[in-house]
Amino acid sequence: MSSESKKTVTITDNTSGKQADLPILDGTQGPSTVDIRSLYKELGYFTFDPGFVSTASCESKITFIDGNKGHLAYRGYPIEQLAHSSNYDETCYLLLYGELPTSDQLDNYKASIKEHKLLDEKMRRFFLGFRHDAHPMAMMVASVGALAAFYPDIDVHDPVAQELAAHRLIAKMPTIASWCYKFALGLPFNYPNIDLDYTGDFLHMLFSLPGRLHTPNPTMERAMDLILILHADHEQNASTSTVRLTGSSEASPFAALSAGIGSLWGPAHGGANEAVIRMLHEIVESGKDLSHYVARAKDKNDRFRLMGFGHRVYKNYDPRAKIIRQVCHDLLAEMGEDNPNQPLLKTAMQLEKIALEDEYFIERKLYPNVDFYSGIIFQAIGIPLNMFTVLFALARTVGWLTHWKEMMSDPHGRIGRPRQLYTGYQQRDYLDINKR
Ligand code: SDX
Repeated sequence: MSSESKKTVTITDNTSGKQADLPILDGTQGPSTVDIRSLYKELGYFTFDPGFVSTASCESKITFIDGNKGHLAYRGYPIEQLAHSSNYDETCYLLLYGELPTSDQLDNYKASIKEHKLLDEKMRRFFLGFRHDAHPMAMMVASVGALAAFYPDIDVHDPVAQELAAHRLIAKMPTIASWCYKFALGLPFNYPNIDLDYTGDFLHMLFSLPGRLHTPNPTMERAMDLILILHADHEQNASTSTVRLTGSSEASPFAALSAGIGSLWGPAHGGANEAVIRMLHEIVESGKDLSHYVARAKDKNDRFRLMGFGHRVYKNYDPRAKIIRQVCHDLLAEMGEDNPNQPLLKTAMQLEKIALEDEYFIERKLYPNVDFYSGIIFQAIGIPLNMFTVLFALARTVGWLTHWKEMMSDPHGRIGRPRQLYTGYQQRDYLDINKR
């Protein structure tokens, strides 16, 4: 629980002379917050912070980011240690329950997830209703939302129901993601194989074909598992805040996650991984000098941005990008110089070098983020471009659910309902159409 530090901030209204003493709330790490809940009552003002640059929307114990230091930790464990020593199943348990599991706890968790991996067979007909060229993210938004039809009447305040919904979604996302992939290629859907672990089974459902089971590739499986760990949570990002706001109305967790997936899809957020590869391909195929693209990124009149660069919180290198960059290297080194992804990696490295030495990026503290290199790994593994953000959504499902559960377990929780600064018309009277 945050602690009221007895410190206060006094706001003086220089017009009326009225003052408000607002308490400071201290967390365990990171900036303290000014509790402004009484501001409107005391001074009659709202605060104004579009994009929530300086606004804490909630108290949370899940993930901590120090943007200046480029530090990220899930439940206190640095991402570098989890990336090196953990796996996605264990990271899911840590996020959901707050502690690293014993081997029995992990076995019980994995057994429960395996119980819920199948989709209702009627979901196949749902998928077959999509256009042949439907974007997999559109299919994922729709399919996860549709699960609310199969699991109605969830008591969102009941911890047992919350855990069941979380396990169902974590379990079903790889099946849904693989069906999105198979549908896009016109290939038959695969069913889960509960003899495989979470990531291995996902790769099986993605790549196995009738009569030809996917041959496990430990390097590929480790790379995918690591990507899932790195994308599992990231405090109050746009999609997680969407899940919290949607869930705050006591809506179904399936509907809340569908909304979060929709938010993640945008190229300013999780859709950037797909946009980075499109940008790198454009650069490589154009034959133009990299400086041409860096100049475009700096040109205020050009909407072009260096995708995979910049971050609202990180004003240093995204620690996840550092880890993924190395995995990129190792994977492509193993795949050989003639791998078609080598030119993309080389271009990414050159772009990164130029940007990190350019005053415009240095001044604005724009560094590569998690999306800058992840797409190259996905391509090297054989994941098509329009599936990249689907993988991000799969990985982030546990983060979204952990935040949803944290919010729904708050006895003081309330529906999220921001206010506004209204600058529209003052009151005016209706005019009959023949008088306009
Ligand atoms: C994710 O929030 C999270 O935690 C998200 C995420 C997660 O795990 O959930 O980390 C995942 O979404 C990573 C971000 C992926 N998006 C991209 O890579 C898209 C490219 N990046 C930008 O669109 C941008 O940097 C954002 C959206 C990431 C951040 O936007 P902000 O915080 O609103 O920053 P801004 O737009 O106010 O930029 C500040 C300045 C501006 O210039 P000035 O007006 O000050 O002159 O930096 C410039 C921007 O024009 N700028 C860029 C740039 N990013 C910011 N200029 C060129 N290229 C870029 N990529």
